[in-house]
Amino acid sequence: MSNSTITLPGLVDLHVHLRDPGQTHKEDFLSGTSAALAGGFTDIFDMPNNQEPIVSVQALDNKVASAKRQIVCDVGFHFGSLGDNLDQFDKVKDRVSGLKLYLNVTTGNYLLSPESLTKIFMAWDSPKPILVHAEADVIETVLKVTAETGQKTHICHVSCRAELEPIIRAKEAGLPVTCGVTPHHLFLREADEQQLGNYGRMKPALKPQADLDYLWDNLDRVDVIESDHAPHTHAEKDEGAFGVPGLETTLPLLLQAEREGRLSRNDIIAKCADNPRRILGLTPDSTTFIEVDPVEFKITNDNLQTKCGWTPFAGRTGYGRVKTVTLRGKVVYRDGKIMAQPGSGRVI
Ligand code: DOR
Ligand code: ZN
Repeated sequence: MSNSTITLPGLVDLHVHLRDPGQTHKEDFLSGTSAALAGGFTDIFDMPNNQEPIVSVQALDNKVASAKRQIVCDVGFHFGSLGDNLDQFDKVKDRVSGLKLYLNVTTGNYLLSPESLTKIFMAWDSPKPILVHAEADVIETVLKVTAETGQKTHICHVSCRAELEPIIRAKEAGLPVTCGVTPHHLFLREADEQQLGNYGRMKPALKPQADLDYLWDNLDRVDVIESDHAPHTHAEKDEGAFGVPGLETTLPLLLQAEREGRLSRNDIIAKCADNPRRILGLTPDSTTFIEVDPVEFKITNDNLQTKCGWTPFAGRTGYGRVKTVTLRGKVVYRDGKIMAQPGSGRVI
């Protein structure tokens, strides 16, 4: 039956920026986790590039305390490093989901030098992954350090052939490396920037069509689809801030791509649920699932849960409206309404 409800496991996004604490004018734990539920995500993982970076036990404590008061889905946290906090790693490793390192300039400017990588990789004494922002210019350096140290490495938001090709080679050589792509790098290309203006600005930047084709052609070598949900206000985008929101548009864009024969339902389940769970060492839970109405609709800037109130995908066709989200047996979202109490989500 083509018109029956689509049931999927609760989706997992291992890469979001919820801005709390510090920049809650553009997102906070309540609005960000509400956006997650509206998009069918039950487990999301927050990055450490807050205004005050999450590079100490104390900064992590503050963030977790704020989350516990507000979250309506389950949230985990990645720790950060600028290379001078290695003594904190053992104190936080059981409380976080991974370690995030920035090798290229982006929001927050928490840039590491490639020379400091080996030392940081060696100090992370955990099977939890090291997630890296590593674009084409530094990808080989990162893969070399992965080979030297044997650490599980996840390459975030792969955007082009020059990044994915070396990753495929590294996988074939047996290195413990995984990678993700974002919906914006799959569905938007460099030429769209003419229309999007500053709303098409993000890191990594949008790429030419040939790179999109390479990503789509090699999607079976990509482990996860991660939104890199990165809300900024209109004023901040006017000033050139990097990043776009993504939690509420990822699933409808992918289900529409499935209708167009560009990927399968199993690909969506693997890349948005099973693989991120496996990479982060989470156990699947059959009482956590979502139900989606099989309807086509136009994506707009209206009725978004994210505080920033816009999407770079406005005007595109999406498929599938999230009808209910059931988290550990309880309906937490129904027909556009958040049913969960703030603070009822779990810290992972
Ligand atoms: O465009 C981006 N925005 N890329 C990143 O790596 C960070 C993110 C943000 O935090 O705004
Ligand atoms: Zn990011």
